[in-house]
Amino acid sequence: MLRVENLSKHFGGTQALKDVNFEVKPKEIIGIIGPNGSGKSTLLHTITGIHKPDKGSIWYEDKNITSIPLEDRARLGIGRTFQNLRLFKRLTVWENMLIPAIQLKKSKKDMEEQASELLNLVNLTHLKNEQAQNLSIGQQRLLEFIRAMMLDSKIVLLDEPTAGFHPNMIQTFIDTLLELNRRGKTFVIIEHNIPAIMEVSTKLIAIAAGEVLMSGNPEEVHSDAKVVEAYLG
Ligand SMILES: Nc1ncnc2c1ncn2[C@@H]1O[C@H](COP(=O)(O)OP(=O)(O)OP(=O)(O)O)[C@@H](O)[C@H]1O
Ligand SMILES: [Mg+2]
Repeated sequence: MLRVENLSKHFGGTQALKDVNFEVKPKEIIGIIGPNGSGKSTLLHTITGIHKPDKGSIWYEDKNITSIPLEDRARLGIGRTFQNLRLFKRLTVWENMLIPAIQLKKSKKDMEEQASELLNLVNLTHLKNEQAQNLSIGQQRLLEFIRAMMLDSKIVLLDEPTAGFHPNMIQTFIDTLLELNRRGKTFVIIEHNIPAIMEVSTKLIAIAAGEVLMSGNPEEVHSDAKVVEAYLG
């Protein structure tokens, strides 16, 4: 579905990505772990078209999308959320849900039904008329997550979706993610919350200093000596 080949990207003297290769199959949930500054967000920015890679290629459903504009990637079905939240802070939860979806030319009734259902899934219905800035960080992250789902993307890339969560909200995120996955969505998730990512991911990719250290079975990757050392080192 999505394939990244020999992707490299540098900023000045920093090699943020170095020959990164991986593949995402439909309905997989790929977890990406790695220490701070290891290139995780850069990888997502490069896939979604914010950064142009120095080298390598990105393939989506057998199309080479390496050089196509950001909006075209979104239109093809690649959605995302940001490590630094990008909500419309002064608009209500409900407005945040509906505004990005306007471009899709769905009927108002369909959009409203979809928004209500998604809000219900993450238990935010009671905050529908609240300004986004009045929500807790965890609630704002859940909102950004379900807002991304309004665009009907086939694959959604999430950058630290549970950062700043109250621990008792993590399960809401996990349940929602798994439900959307059951309905057919594919996910790539950058996460520092190891128990959460171990619970949801079908495959784990560990990166350090811009390189893939190991990928495969989540248990094996997580307990690998090289991966443990990269985290502690
Ligand atoms: N726009 C940029 N300009 C210059 N350097 C950058 C830029 N974006 C990222 N970097 C550098 O590239 C490296 C990788 O950064 P990146 O944000 O991808 O890491 P990360 O794995 O997402 O880290 P974190 O876990 O802290 O979010 C870092 O050394 C960072 O300082
Ligand atoms: Mg990051």
